[in-house]
Amino acid sequence: MGSEDGSYRSSKNSKKPKYSRFTQQELPACKPILTPGLVIGILISLAIIFIPIGLLSFSASQNVVEVVDRYDEECVPATSSKLGFIQDAQTNKTCIRTLIVPKKMKHPIFVYYQLDNFYQNHRRYVKSRSDHQLWSPKNEYMTKLCEPEAVDSNNEPIVPCGLVAWSLFNDTYTFSRNDNSLTVNKKNIAWTSDRTKKFGANVYPKNFQSHGLIGGAKLNETIPLSEQEDLIVWMRTAALPSFRKLYGKIETDLEANDKITVVIENNYNTYAFDGRKKLVMSTVTWIGGKNDFLGRMYLTVGGASLFFALAFSLLYILKPRPLGDPTYLSWNRKPTL
Ligand SMILES: *[C@@H]1O[C@H](CO)[C@@H](O)[C@H](O)[C@H]1NC(C)=O
Repeated sequence: MGSEDGSYRSSKNSKKPKYSRFTQQELPACKPILTPGLVIGILISLAIIFIPIGLLSFSASQNVVEVVDRYDEECVPATSSKLGFIQDAQTNKTCIRTLIVPKKMKHPIFVYYQLDNFYQNHRRYVKSRSDHQLWSPKNEYMTKLCEPEAVDSNNEPIVPCGLVAWSLFNDTYTFSRNDNSLTVNKKNIAWTSDRTKKFGANVYPKNFQSHGLIGGAKLNETIPLSEQEDLIVWMRTAALPSFRKLYGKIETDLEANDKITVVIENNYNTYAFDGRKKLVMSTVTWIGGKNDFLGRMYLTVGGASLFFALAFSLLYILKPRPLGDPTYLSWNRKPTL
């Protein structure tokens, strides 16, 4: 037996594969048997983990106080054409909105602008920027990706070039509370990594919004890009057509029924493509802003696990059967007539 064994393995002409534990499928493997007890145990532990997490995140989300005000409709006169109004440089775009704080809002209160139906994720838009140029003054001329917002009419490079920068949001908000002015802190609204590693501290805007169609806000040419935080926030492009971007932070608590007056300069043209503009004030908790989805998801999965654990337990108690009983196999069962 032994010699026979050895001879076929060592024979050079044999087509049989060499012996190895892999080719012979003898590697150790874990083959758990899913007994009813094990399955029920797993489902119950899932339920025990998921349901409390779900309840916690759901209640955290419920505690967030959010005030949302859509203003793009009311901030243009009903009589004239919206497009004509917004494109006319002479019209008065100031618009006053009054918001009532529904519940006490603890600071920091985040102020966002929300745009809907704005596709900042369009391929040609996303690519229309020059990160080299944003980072170093030596790369001023690296504007190839930025067409048609690469150079001005004198062939001088635009800094920052490209459509993303060009379309910078230019509505502004001034807040007051019960007729006293309310400060909105606009410092540190952008990511630290963007401020320190993407937007240069010695790159200054140049030839920006200076030729052709004006796309949005202008930039102060004496402030380096690393401190132009509205631009930095804007240039971190949103993945979805409805998005919020941070405008600033209110660093005092607001009481219930406080009257917040917002003076809006309604400049940005979203009317040409049916975009909507909203002003949002929101508090935060440990899960961030208002987000019921996470809690709902945890509760759904936990609830389903609990349901199946109970259903399987009932079946197991009411109709038990031995594990691996071959009489249940179809070919062992008597055909039913
Ligand atoms: C604001 O942006 C719009 C384009 O959306 C532009 O037409 C307008 O001139 C800009 N206004 C100011 C004050 O920057």
